[in-house]
Amino acid sequence: DSPHHVRIVEVSPRDGLQNEKQVVPLTTKLELIRRLVEEAGVETVEAGSFVSPKWVPQMADSAAVLEQMTVKQGVSYPFLVPNDRGLVNFLDMVGPKGRAAGRSDEIAIFTAATDAFTKANTNCTIHESLERLSKVTSKALGHGIRVRGYISVVADCPYSGKVNPADVGKIAKTLLEMGCYEISLGDTTGAGTPGQMLNVLNECTRHAPSVRFAAHCHDTFGSAVANVLAMVNAGVRVVDAAVGGLGGCPYSPGASGNVDVESVVYALHESGYDTGLDLDALAQIGAWISQQLDRPNGSSAGRAILAR
Ligand code: HMG
Ligand code: MG
Repeated sequence: DSPHHVRIVEVSPRDGLQNEKQVVPLTTKLELIRRLVEEAGVETVEAGSFVSPKWVPQMADSAAVLEQMTVKQGVSYPFLVPNDRGLVNFLDMVGPKGRAAGRSDEIAIFTAATDAFTKANTNCTIHESLERLSKVTSKALGHGIRVRGYISVVADCPYSGKVNPADVGKIAKTLLEMGCYEISLGDTTGAGTPGQMLNVLNECTRHAPSVRFAAHCHDTFGSAVANVLAMVNAGVRVVDAAVGGLGGCPYSPGASGNVDVESVVYALHESGYDTGLDLDALAQIGAWISQQLDRPNGSSAGRAILAR
């Protein structure tokens, strides 16, 4: 891969839709994934999550998504897994005898930089969460499943305020030692700034090179594109984003959507990086999904491109 290639992890089918008030029909989710892969050329689509439907009912049909989504050679389709129960359900689907045999070979596990957020999101402390996820990770790796790790609230926590970057570095080290191939650094509340995100990245790169980390920025304060660019300029080569700026975590009250993939791709392409994605197609998909969800298109770049 060229040193200027940035891989986009399109998280809209999962992070984008997990917080929608109305239930998004399965057919819409499948069409979103199909269009991202076939029309925009996305290499990684986070397609759903095997979490408790009592906690996140919007993702209750993720097994059906896994079974029916368009699968293209060379594209990865990670699913979020919070515990052993989620992993067993996922493996039952994708294993040799499963209804979705071979359709995905990747999960994403998630913890957070504060106990308060970890408690709100997964009902345990950071320590308990890492113990749980260590078992999940070794079992997944034993089944040939790749594991991506998330750390939420790396800059700011909705319950306990500013986060110490050194705390994030320690958790990143643990996740890397568990066997995560990549760690995504989540500015869940979208209150982070380029300066803070670089401090977080500096703590993390004590344990692994910058290419092992991803930027996962929400856009509550409008600084997400700046945060992403700062991290890419510092050596990060993976960016999580959602078409139309969809998304949010149900356990991060007041936070807005993910950084919109249209603005990220526009900014990267104009700054000498390549993503391999078709920006016009992304703009079309962003407008389409916003209409499906009956909400304004949250991508300023997407709106500008379509108005040209
Ligand atoms: P709990 O209530 O402590 O667990 O939740 P439990 O074991 O007592 O289970 C409660 C019920 O859920 C039981 O059902 C279980 O069987 C069932 P009942 O016996 O009452 O009928 N259950 C499950 N069902 C299906 N799949 C499972 C599963 N596990 C239990 N895997 C738990 C603990 C971790 C399960 C829960 O807290 C949970 O599911 N949390 C997930 C929350 C979530 O999905 N948050 C959003 C994703 S993270 C995010 O958005 C941040 C990110 O984008 C990065 C960033 O922006 O920072 C990644
Ligand atoms: Mg998120």
